[in-house]
Amino acid sequence: MKLITANAVYHKRVLVRVDFNVSFDEQGKILDDFRIQKILPTLKFLQEQEADKIILLSHLGRPQPEDRNKSDFSLQKVASYLEKLLGQKVYFSATPIGNALKQEIAKLPARSFILLENLRFYPEEEKNEVEFAKKLSDLGDIFINEAFSVSHRFSASLCGVPKFLPSYAGFLLQAEIEALDKIKKVDSNQLVVVMGGAKIKDKLPLIQSFLEWARFVLIGGALANTIIKAWDFEVGLSLVEEEMIKEAQNIGSQKAELVLPGDYRVLTKDHKIATRALGEVFKSDTILDLGPISSRTFAKFLSKAHAIFWNGPMGKIEDKRFREGTKAVLEAILSNNKAQTVIGGGDTLASLKLIKPGYQIQDTKLRFFSTGGGALLEYLSGQTLPGIKALN
Ligand code: 3PG
Repeated sequence: MKLITANAVYHKRVLVRVDFNVSFDEQGKILDDFRIQKILPTLKFLQEQEADKIILLSHLGRPQPEDRNKSDFSLQKVASYLEKLLGQKVYFSATPIGNALKQEIAKLPARSFILLENLRFYPEEEKNEVEFAKKLSDLGDIFINEAFSVSHRFSASLCGVPKFLPSYAGFLLQAEIEALDKIKKVDSNQLVVVMGGAKIKDKLPLIQSFLEWARFVLIGGALANTIIKAWDFEVGLSLVEEEMIKEAQNIGSQKAELVLPGDYRVLTKDHKIATRALGEVFKSDTILDLGPISSRTFAKFLSKAHAIFWNGPMGKIEDKRFREGTKAVLEAILSNNKAQTVIGGGDTLASLKLIKPGYQIQDTKLRFFSTGGGALLEYLSGQTLPGIKALN
């Protein structure tokens, strides 16, 4: 994989695949700009090194054919936002392909930024169609993949374009790979993994693979509900992925210790909050957080760890009353100043933002905040990401 260099970008039309798949509130305001902030150094580099034009490609959400051109899925709002962050004009094109666009780009002042409309308005993108990739590549002289978080998708902008243009890894892509590789290489006896949130279907392969090489795997959130239900404990009305019960029954390994919460904060049938020990949850309860003993236990594991991977909240953090478990995990991780740490996944970073609103997310030598969600899980579980493979 080649990393971008000043020489490679000088006076070139540079196509940069980014991941501006961000969420918005009802007024269309960006809820979390973490992914946008993280590629600013690359954008600044391209400008300083005198790239001729900087052409940004992204997807947003998962639009269906009937959503094409709907403003909810348009990247126009992101162009305006980026313009404010960069303090300079960011042009926007309502189409990502075509001769007219090519001519429009040619007329832009040198070193301009232009963001193209949501690639997923074109089904060809997700079908990884060669013709579409060719049309995208016609717009640039070189290609940069700066979208680690979508590199697990076989799409034209990631896998097709590198067939037509000299292609490079961006700084963020490289930083992601380096941080994750470091975690993969730590002494497995030192590694403590903590995973929560929902979607056990997506996370089970990674949990299982961590169980083969980490020291402790702590599971909270709705993931834990599915596992304890699979092990015949009552979970009442809690969120469970029924279709995963069978697979969850076999979870475990000879290597790592799987640690599940021994107590829970639940919402009772009369809407009160109660603490229940494992095995004492009522049919009418809903588990929504770790209980106080589990919060303390999880925190203890994490404060002693020499390497940590954290993905997913421990409870229903949207509700203030159920943030204690996630808060305990977060605080233990942030106050551990010796552990090689990777924190990642959209809902993980959202919980950080909710629990510590003023916290400045900043990577350090020891701590890395990943932009990846699904890509992060796949990469760590040992799969080859097609977007990265295409660069090789
Ligand atoms: C993400 O948010 O994880 C990436 O942008 C990929 O989005 P997708 O899951 O819709 O492909």
